[in-house]
Amino acid sequence: MELSNNEIKVLDFLSRRNDFVSENDIEVPGLDRREISSAVSYLEVKDLISVKREERITYTLGQEGEKFLEKGLPEERLYRRIKTDGKIDLSGIKNFMDQEESKIALAQLGRFNIKPVMGALIYEENQDLENAIVKRKQFLESIKTLGSSRDTEMIDHFRRRGNILIEKKKLERFVYINDNGRKFLAGSINLNKIEALTPEIISSGVWKNSEFRGYDLKVPVEKINGGFYHPLTILIRRIKRIFLEMGFSEMPGHYVESAAWNMDALFVPQDHPVREMQDTFYVKPQGSIEIEFPEIIEKVKKTHEKGVRGYTGWGYSFDPHESKRFLMRTHTTVSTVRYLYKHTVPPVSIFSIEKVFRHESVDWKHLAELHQIEGAYYAKDANLSTLKSLMRTFYGKLGFREIKFVPSYYPYTEPSMDAIAFINGKEMELGGSGIFRAEVTKPLGLKEPVIAWGMGLERIAMMFYQLNDIREIYQSDMEWLQNYKIPEYSY
Ligand code: PHE
Repeated sequence: MELSNNEIKVLDFLSRRNDFVSENDIEVPGLDRREISSAVSYLEVKDLISVKREERITYTLGQEGEKFLEKGLPEERLYRRIKTDGKIDLSGIKNFMDQEESKIALAQLGRFNIKPVMGALIYEENQDLENAIVKRKQFLESIKTLGSSRDTEMIDHFRRRGNILIEKKKLERFVYINDNGRKFLAGSINLNKIEALTPEIISSGVWKNSEFRGYDLKVPVEKINGGFYHPLTILIRRIKRIFLEMGFSEMPGHYVESAAWNMDALFVPQDHPVREMQDTFYVKPQGSIEIEFPEIIEKVKKTHEKGVRGYTGWGYSFDPHESKRFLMRTHTTVSTVRYLYKHTVPPVSIFSIEKVFRHESVDWKHLAELHQIEGAYYAKDANLSTLKSLMRTFYGKLGFREIKFVPSYYPYTEPSMDAIAFINGKEMELGGSGIFRAEVTKPLGLKEPVIAWGMGLERIAMMFYQLNDIREIYQSDMEWLQNYKIPEYSY
């Protein structure tokens, strides 16, 4: 049997241990973790070692954990504050930290018997708390650097506090040299065998007096995983199939849009907060880029200023320059209205599953770049009952059997409803919907009502793949990508 030098070194290390060792505890000078791990894999297939696999839990810091490590724990910040100022009243806390944090801080201080008296927190030296703070911070620090901890008390503590620790299960290998391995080492071993040929070996003539490592054609090679669909792709294909089964066709769209189509045509007033830079990514396209069907701006202008028959409009003076700003589309409803503008003969049933962009701060349930699922139906019989029944069919096929509708608001629909699903007794928001307002349909030249609904794809992906953090979808964690389970249909 032929062994590489690395395998021999690892085997030699193991021969000096009398019990199973964790792969992570193997230390061989000159070899990095990846080389050691690969040697262990080969030694296993060559049957020179025994391997046990055990599940190990590792941790990373969640968004809150990172934040606390940087800014200090809420209880720590509040305690330091009263330590410097002597006291703080409850309204002072509000100015000092946000409500969520102050709730945590007060609850944590309460455990150490620091409680508000007559509406104020008063400083008193508390050694237990000071010690606890040091311990808690050291713990978070060690999680950040090591990714694991044996401190079960701290783990329990922080697990109960939302989104500080993110737990991951990994298989850890424990290895032990077997009789074959010992026999191999007892034979003659040459660690100077040449493993790879270089120009120097040939030109210097060293090769003449060297031994070469032979090829062992019988060794099973490491298994290489073939290509997989990304879990999100699987979900997108499934949703596309549902729409197609329901007789919908896919509509096109693009990332960069004009405010004219993304907002104005949807009767979003020009001073609406979603238009602010804090919510929308505006872009300056290089070169010339034209607004599609720019004639819409005139029609939309009239509607915003004066309304359509039976409706008063916003009554302000519409700025056509605002319409010409370009942005990363914030929803796919923009594709719906433009498609209908060009397809005014009913019935039309269309859908898309496409990326949208929002200037959000990213956390465990928000992304700045996400997919939106959009469906719309334009027909004489498009009404609230049709909408509810379409959504029930659609969500039912996706696996959400029990849903309810609650009133909601979007500038372009009236009435508007949000769909809520019940999952294991808990409510989960699926997405918005409604009947397009006359102020949207009239300027587009549509004679019949339009009903539409939209929702985020990644939120559904979290449900399907049971993820606790939406960012996991895009982290390219190989272990997840190779082992995820395609979910059952039913909730
Ligand atoms: N566009 C809405 C959103 O971005 C969803 C929606 C679609 C609402 C269609 C009503 C009609 O959340």
